[in-house]
Amino acid sequence: MSRLPLVIAPDPVLKKKTEAVADIDDDVRRLMDDMVETMYAERGMGLAAPQVGILKRVFVMDVGADGGERRLMKLANPEIVWASEETKFYEEGCLSIPGQFAEVERPAAVKVRYLDYDGEVREIEDDGVLAVCAQHEIDHLDGVLFVDHLSTLKRNMFLRKSKKFKKDRERDQAKESA
Ligand code: NI
Repeated sequence: MSRLPLVIAPDPVLKKKTEAVADIDDDVRRLMDDMVETMYAERGMGLAAPQVGILKRVFVMDVGADGGERRLMKLANPEIVWASEETKFYEEGCLSIPGQFAEVERPAAVKVRYLDYDGEVREIEDDGVLAVCAQHEIDHLDGVLFVDHLSTLKRNMFLRKSKKFKKDRERDQAKESA
């Protein structure tokens, strides 16, 4: 496994739609494993392929389901097949928008159909953190960031701060390699 470089917003790759994977082969499994390593290294709960510059419908997450213990999941071609009418607010953050958090309103419960690491079709239904995380990551696969659910004013503020973070990081990296 290897850690992949993280894409920080604003970046055009984060606004693009991704392509479904044809099947779960060794390349897709390697991508999933590299994304898991990257997610843990960056201390995230979830990571979608566009966040490492790959435009495929793949994401990984490590959250608790049904209020239970955390578990690691690797998903391809996820689809929300059912969403509750009831919504709720939950404070979200994103590895691609470092250090910023906001309350986002989404359906309180969802059922997601996906292909697992072995290429099996699976479904999971949840009304907790997993439901929030899955919707956040599936948004990424459609070029949508959590800040896109906020007002224009807030979104621009978040993206401006992220841009500054990105600039500072690039400058630090240039210094390190100089
Ligand atoms: Ni995110």
